[in-house]
Amino acid sequence: MSRIVVLIGMMGSGKTTVGKRLAQRMDSEFVDTDDLVVAVAGKSVRDIFTEDGEAAFRALEEGALAAALASSRDTVVAAAGGCVLSDANRTAVASRADMVVWLDADLTALTSRVQRGVHRPLVDGDAATRLAELDEQRRALYERLATLHIDTSELSVDEVVDIVSAEIEARP
Ligand code: S3P
Repeated sequence: MSRIVVLIGMMGSGKTTVGKRLAQRMDSEFVDTDDLVVAVAGKSVRDIFTEDGEAAFRALEEGALAAALASSRDTVVAAAGGCVLSDANRTAVASRADMVVWLDADLTALTSRVQRGVHRPLVDGDAATRLAELDEQRRALYERLATLHIDTSELSVDEVVDIVSAEIEARP
């Protein structure tokens, strides 16, 4: 059976950047659920939120995550920050993933990293305050789902990739 590694965590935690490099290192496919959503909807994450609403986005996201988890090839999945909000998503990840890595970071690091992305309407305006609220709502969900927790605040992308790939190699 294919090996599925799922990266979870807040916006700005590094799921996409780490996931791409980890996939290269592990000779795996890389799937970002946001990219799948955009491909299926034919419009940007921001436009889906604005024109169709968050519920429509979450429905597309559930389909994207299910498709990523069904991959028959070894795959690293970057599960967008809100994937953990749905019971169905959490169950699907827990039952299929070989490893669930929570990329965590302090609010200062998250805030500076999300300034670089435009696909995050939930943190428009005062990003630091919005991130703090979302982090508080989601922390316990990330914690419960994760099989590996890494605080990336002070780590480079390569250091995070080193930690995850060492864990993958250490596990049967
Ligand atoms: C969201 C995270 C974003 C994107 C959307 C909503 C969230 O993805 O799906 O803006 O609710 O945390 P990233 O986690 O890849 O930034």
